[in-house]
Amino acid sequence: HWTTASIVDDQVSRIREQIGEGRAICGLSGGVDSAVAAALVQRAIGDRLTCVFVDHGLLRSGERTQVERDYVSATGVNLVTVDARERFLGALAGVTDPERKRKIIGREFIRVFEQAERDLKAEGDYRFLVQGTLYPDVVESGGGTGTSNIKSHHNVGGLPEDLQFSLVEPLRLLFKDEVRRVGLELGLPETIVARQPFPGPGLGIRIIGEVTADRLDTLRAADAIAREELTAAGLDREIWQCPVVLLADVRSVGVQGDGRTYGHPIVLRPVSSEDAMTADWTRLPYEVLERISTRVTNEVAEVNRVTLDVTSKPPGTIEWE
Ligand code: XMP
Repeated sequence: HWTTASIVDDQVSRIREQIGEGRAICGLSGGVDSAVAAALVQRAIGDRLTCVFVDHGLLRSGERTQVERDYVSATGVNLVTVDARERFLGALAGVTDPERKRKIIGREFIRVFEQAERDLKAEGDYRFLVQGTLYPDVVESGGGTGTSNIKSHHNVGGLPEDLQFSLVEPLRLLFKDEVRRVGLELGLPETIVARQPFPGPGLGIRIIGEVTADRLDTLRAADAIAREELTAAGLDREIWQCPVVLLADVRSVGVQGDGRTYGHPIVLRPVSSEDAMTADWTRLPYEVLERISTRVTNEVAEVNRVTLDVTSKPPGTIEWE
């Protein structure tokens, strides 16, 4: 029988065995998984760990400050922030296929980590790369024992073949609720451990169609409003996560004031789940839906319609791409 404390002890000694006297880089996304993976490795090898936060331009509003401020003050970890917005947007230009987006994003993450490794050479040799890969990520990317191949999670099926790093993946056998318990055991604050999941490829897989800077701004604004209203309504615990999706290639006619509009729809995708392997659509109160709809259509110029996704998983997945 595994207790959380014994998972921590076991993983810490495995990490020490794997890394030895070496050094490791850990990509921090702002999410729970990478935060807990980093905290485990920090416990194992101390300041021979350097975390890298990649601003790929696909982040939600406020995400970067949250990592730079909250995570560092909670853990005291070494953090390097890389502004890679142009690199990612450039690589994604013209791309609409979901799996291609995922593979490109996975590859660009690794390129940024390789550059960070070169920049950190003076401190020592960073041969190891820590990832917060969970058991469901492995299974759904087709890397488990099953034959499932639903999506390439950016840090599993999206890795380049010429990877220079040795991977350290201390959460590879765990589910999300176990990861949260490990995080608490390691002393991470509730504000980090209780965060709702957010995928590494970020808003890049929530724009249906090509990813551009303008579309990202539109989606970021709509997403911030939805999150604000859900939090204000006290629904954060009840909801597993609520992706907001921009249907960038769809337009519909609307009316605002005396004028005709021809804007884009967004989709709200609130789900309830235990482990993200299956999910049910969350029955949000009508008043909350109404507030989100009114605010988004008033405050985000390019969006003139708000729709609700009422599909469970299966047959839908949580993210649209
Ligand atoms: P799906 O869309 O497969 O999502 O039902 C299941 C859970 O995984 C998250 N997700 C990802 N997380 N990298 C991540 O770190 C990814 O590439 C990725 N794709 C999906 C998704 O947000 C949900 O919580």
